[in-house]
Formats: sequence, C-alpha cells, structure tokens
Amino acid sequence: MTNQLFLSTLQGTKSSTTPIWMMRQAGRYLEEYRKIRANQKDFISFCLNPEQASAVTLQPITRYGFDAAIIFSDILIVPWAMNCNVRFKTGVGPLLDAMELPGDIDMSCLDNFNQKLAPVGQALALTRAALPLETTLIGFAGAPWTLITYMAEGASSRDFPKARRWAWQNKKALDGLLDILINVTISFLSLQAQSGAQTLMLFDSWASAVPAAQRDWLITKPARAIIEGVRKNGHTQPFIGFPKGIGEGLIRYAAESGVNAIGLDHGVDPVWAGQNLPAKMPVQGNLDPLSLLNASNEMFRDIDHILEAFHDRPHIFNLGHGITPSTPVENVQKMINYIRNR
Ligand code: CP3
Repeated sequence: MTNQLFLSTLQGTKSSTTPIWMMRQAGRYLEEYRKIRANQKDFISFCLNPEQASAVTLQPITRYGFDAAIIFSDILIVPWAMNCNVRFKTGVGPLLDAMELPGDIDMSCLDNFNQKLAPVGQALALTRAALPLETTLIGFAGAPWTLITYMAEGASSRDFPKARRWAWQNKKALDGLLDILINVTISFLSLQAQSGAQTLMLFDSWASAVPAAQRDWLITKPARAIIEGVRKNGHTQPFIGFPKGIGEGLIRYAAESGVNAIGLDHGVDPVWAGQNLPAKMPVQGNLDPLSLLNASNEMFRDIDHILEAFHDRPHIFNLGHGITPSTPVENVQKMINYIRNR
C-alpha cells in the first residue's frame, strides 16, 4: 500500500514533512463549491447525493493537494436520520425541531437509521476510488454533547442554556439520550469505516459549554464509549478527537477518551500542549482560521510558532476551527507554500 503521510503521522511517525489539511476545506470559500451548491435543492439532499458529495470532497484536493480529504457531509445528518426535521436556512444556519426534554425520544425514530445514511457510505467509496493513493480519507461524526446542544436549542446558540440546564435538572433522561446518541454514532462511524474512511474524527465543537466537573460525564466518557463500540465492530482506524475549547481538560481527555490524536483549537497555546499532552500523542492544529483573511506577517509568525512547538512530536497542520467563507483562496495557497518551503 502507498505510504500516506497523514496516516503515518497519525500512527505516531514523525516525518520531515508535516501533513496539512483544513477543517471545512470543502466549503463556501471555494467558487467551485458555490457553483455546485447553487444547483442543490437543499443542504441535506446535497450531503446525501453520493456523486455530488464526492465531487466537492475532491475539490480542495484537486486545488491544493492536501494530505487528507474529509468527506462532505455534516454532523447534523445524524439528528436528521433520527427524524429531527433538520434543515439549513441561508443566512441563519441549521434549524431543528427543538426537544422539550431529553427523554422526548420516540424510539421508532431509529428505524432505518443505517439505510438513511447509506449514501454517506456510497460517497466515501466513490471518493476513495477517485482520490490519489497518497491522500487519506477522513470520516466523521458529531460527538453526543454537541449534537444535544442542537437538538435542545433547535438552532445554533451562544450559551446553550437548555442543554446545560438538562445537565443539572434532567440527569437521568440526559443519560438516556447520551446512550442513544452513542449507539447511533457507533453505527454511523462503523458504516463509514467499512465504506472507505481511513481515519475517524469526532467533533465536539461545543465542549466548551460543559462545566469542568461534568466533562467526564458529557465529553470524555461518551467519546470513549463510541471508540470502544467502533473497535468492537472490528474497525481499527485511528480516531482524532476535537473537544473544542476545553483547555486544561485536554489532559484528561487525552488520557481517558481512547482517541489516538487530539485536534487543538486555536485557543490552546501550542507550547502548553507540547508540554502537557502525552509525548508520543499526535496533535492536529491549530492556526486561527481568521488569520487567513489577510495572511499577514503575523500569520506566518504563528505558523512558525506552531511548527516549532511540535517539532519533536507527530503533528498534522490544520486550523483551530473551520475556514471561514470569506477567506481568499490565494491566502490558503500562501499558507501551504510557507509550510512546504520552510
Ligand atoms: O469540508 C469539510 O469540513 C467537510 C464537511 C463538513 C461540513 N460541516 C459541511 C458544511 C464538516 C466536517 C462539518 C462539521 C460541522 N457541522 C460541525 C463541526 C465542526 C465545527 O465547525 O465546529 C458543526 C458544528 C456543524 C453544524 C453546521 N453545519 C452549522 C452550524 C452550519 C451552518 C453554519 C455555516 O457555516 O454556514 C452548517 C452548514 C455547513 N456544513 C456548510 C458546510 C459546507 C455550509 C452550508 C452551505 O453550503 O450552505
């Protein structure tokens, strides 16, 4: 098999070249994405169209030659497959039918869950067949807590008041909802693993909203249960965990979640991460995506800082969160050139 720089780094080998990809690399900052997007009925059916999803997954690889491709889909495809009436409104973002209480789940919503998500498997298979052999294909899912924030609030939210209240007032029912989400996520990631995903990433984008004392319960243990479940199903792909915004909580998460590597958001000091995370654990990150808006000297200084902090451990270069739609495409190329020619 062809050696993949991204995969070997994730498996613990430090190479002289640092692999690069970006969260949300298949998205609106690319005109070729906007062109395909303009012809779609809606975002969910776009995600569930294997040919189109595969085509946009390949766009940033064709343009930039990144070391990894992430399948074009969304974390909210899981609540969609659970009949939460997920839709995306231009200018607003995702909308769902908000749950009143965490126990308000009719278990029949799980009927045909895997069949509904089968197109994601087909998109992965098509993409793997079309990718250069040296490029790794990433599958992903949202972590239970982050999905719960959307299912509770019914939309994006700044403070997640309802989900956080549930954690104090509806503990038992919330545990039940966590269990359901852990199980569906195990099925969904297993489907992706058997369809061509070579790495699995777990996005806990709103882990920052969880109080430190509840992190084990709501963030770390669910991640562990998901990884154990996927392993029990016979899949050995490495896992990247991205518990965004938990700061010092990364130490316990790294030790106890079972992830193979940690995705760092741009709030984490790379020097701190270098000193505090297990010496051999690969890390991914963590340039501020907004630095790409003007690609000034400060951006290059930050790139140096990140690369130097991780010079002696396996490191995958990435942003600390998704690239924003207004990023000039040429600035992405400048970032890549700088890293490659250093
Ligand atoms: O290129 C890639 O990264 C692959 C595809 C991908 C998308 N969403 C496509 C998308 C991935 C990995 C995601 C993950 C995702 N989705 C997360 C976790 C990562 C993060 O950013 O924290 C979250 C929280 C979501 C939920 C979501 N999806 C929101 C809040 C929004 C609306 C906000 C926005 O950026 O517009 C989406 C929509 C979405 N998902 C778009 C894309 C390309 C834009 C929608 C469009 O094209 O109309």
